Amino acid sequence: MDFSTVLIDWYEHNKRDLPWRKTKNPYYIWLSETILQQTRVNQGINYYYSFIKKYPTIHDLAKAELDDVLKLWQGLGYYSRAVNLHQTAKIISIQYNGKFPIDYPTLLKLKGIGEYTASAIVSFVSNQPYPVIDGNVYRVLSRIFGIEDCIDTQNGKKTFKKLATKLLNKENASVYNQAIMEFGAIQCKPKSPNCEECIFRSYCFAFINKKVELFPLKKSKTKQKTRFFNYLVFNTNKSIILNKRINKDVWFGLHEFPLIETDKQINNQEELLQILPKSFTNKSDVYLPSIKIEHQLSHQKIIATFWKINTKKLPKPVKNQFIISLNAIHQFAVPRLIEKYIQKIL
Ligand code: ADE
Repeated sequence: MDFSTVLIDWYEHNKRDLPWRKTKNPYYIWLSETILQQTRVNQGINYYYSFIKKYPTIHDLAKAELDDVLKLWQGLGYYSRAVNLHQTAKIISIQYNGKFPIDYPTLLKLKGIGEYTASAIVSFVSNQPYPVIDGNVYRVLSRIFGIEDCIDTQNGKKTFKKLATKLLNKENASVYNQAIMEFGAIQCKPKSPNCEECIFRSYCFAFINKKVELFPLKKSKTKQKTRFFNYLVFNTNKSIILNKRINKDVWFGLHEFPLIETDKQINNQEELLQILPKSFTNKSDVYLPSIKIEHQLSHQKIIATFWKINTKKLPKPVKNQFIISLNAIHQFAVPRLIEKYIQKIL
């Protein structure tokens, strides 16, 4: 039996019951694949249901306010994906009259749809023979076939694409693509894969050579950057200032408190006062003990210090800032870091 037959047979006996596998609606498949690039299946299911409930058709998503889409996306991270999702929905709704293009080159032209998502959509919807290549697939193929090319180089990517295209079951691309990702997700896992009970154990290169944990190979360890955020939580007992992030940086479109980013950690009130603009200080302000929260993103660690400042009069909001009542904060899309702080203090 060839690779794809063994794999598909395994899949038929072991697959999870997942909602996006029961539909051929390209809009739903696109939503699910975009969500699943950000999170694991268990958490992704809830987001998937929330999205299709609130926006049952692509026209509904296209007509939505970006702020509402971001609110629904909250917690998934990488918010530019949600921005792209919304923009692409508008384009399909208006330029394509809501008819989702099921054509690989056309899909690639749309914002936020890369080779992976385009392959997933055309194969799942209409069985077109395009292999999906995601982290699961890199791991499965590198281990079984002993591919030592690095997955983060152009050459490595080419090698994997060639192999993935060769292995793809062209008559049954839809099931094959689901199967290889499912195999990576629940059998050939990144840590502690279940090699003892694996259908490929008699010829898996990595298992035979005791190198399972080493695959797939990567050239560069992603450089971690540490950033120091000082959030100024001015409040008058009833109201606070919020800032909407609009720069090319993390959390585009989300809300936070007024922020001063520094090169080093600010440890106490004296140090803070040295960096605060005059317009932010008032003699009668009361500084409460600060709260520090560390927050890990994919390529950066954020060390945030929240300075709660009780004041009689809020500083004048600058561009992209506005005053809201404290109770209204739950209506705004905020990064997970801000949510963690709110849960601590409210
Ligand atoms: N991860 C990415 N796409 C997936 C899918 N369609 N099913 C399960 N896990 C996935």
